[in-house]
Amino acid sequence: MSGYDTLAEVYEWLISDAKLSPAEFAASFADVLSLLPPNAHVLDCSCGTGQLAVGLAGLGMQVVATDASEAMVRRTAELSEEFGASVRTVRADWQELPDHFDDDTFDMVFCVGNSLHHAVGASGRFAALESMSRLLRRGGRLVLASRTWELVRARGSRLDISDRLVRRNGRDAVVVYRWEIAPHWEEEHHIEIAVAQVDAAGSVLVRSELLSCWPYRYDELEVELHRVGLRTEMSTFNPEAENYTVVASRG
Ligand SMILES: C[S@@+](CC[C@H](N)C(=O)[O-])C[C@H]1O[C@@H](n2cnc3c(N)ncnc32)[C@H](O)[C@@H]1O
Repeated sequence: MSGYDTLAEVYEWLISDAKLSPAEFAASFADVLSLLPPNAHVLDCSCGTGQLAVGLAGLGMQVVATDASEAMVRRTAELSEEFGASVRTVRADWQELPDHFDDDTFDMVFCVGNSLHHAVGASGRFAALESMSRLLRRGGRLVLASRTWELVRARGSRLDISDRLVRRNGRDAVVVYRWEIAPHWEEEHHIEIAVAQVDAAGSVLVRSELLSCWPYRYDELEVELHRVGLRTEMSTFNPEAENYTVVASRG
C-alpha cells in the first residue's frame, strides 16, 4: 500500500494543465521517444492516473502501465477506456515488477512525476532501480523525472498553499502541501497533501493523504543508476531548478 489511494480520487487537481492531456504529456518526451523503434514496448512504472501511458499508446506504442496504488491503476484503466487506448494495466510496486514481466522486455521504462522518492531508503531505491533496469532490453532506456531534493531540503519544513484556486471538472479547489523535512537526508520525510474543494454554496470537501518519502541527492542517483547497469545519456539536472529528467541506457 503506497499511499495515493485517496489522492487518486482528486489527482487532477495536483497535476499541471500540460499533464492533463495524454497527447501533451507524451509530447513532452518527444526527444527520447524519437529514439524508439516503431511499435516499441514501453512501461510506465508509476503511472498515476494514466495520462502518460494513454498518450504513449496514442503514438502507436505497446504500453504497460503499473503502479503500487490499486486506485491509480483503476483510474488508468478507466482513462484508457475513455480514449479507446490499448494499455495493459497491472498493480505492482517496483520490486514486484520482475514477478510480472520477463527481463529484457521493454525498450523504454518511465518513472516520472516525482515518484522514486517513495522507495524506502537507499536500499529500497536500489531495488526499485534494479527492477526497472532488468526489464529493459540491452540499449533500452530509463526515463526518470525527479524533484530537486537539494532545493526542497534547503527550504526546510513548511506549508505551501496554492495562491490560486485550481479548477478541474468545473470544481475549484485549494491545494495544500505540508513538507516535513527530517534533520538528515537518509531519514523518512513526509509530505501531506490536501485538496480542499469549495462549492458555490461555500461547502468544503477535503481529501488528504500523508505520504512518506526518502529524498536523494542527484549525485547519489547517478551512482545508483550506474550500479544497476545504467549509463546516464542525458540529464537536465540544475541545482537551482525545481525538477530534472535523467535518461539512462542499459549497457
Ligand atoms: C507523484 S505520483 C506521479 C504519477 C505520475 N507518474 C505523474 O507523473 O503524474 C507518484 C506515483 O508513484 C506511485 N508509487 C508510490 N510508491 C510506489 C512503489 N513503491 N511502486 C510503484 N509505484 C509507486 C504512486 O502510487 C503514485 O501514483
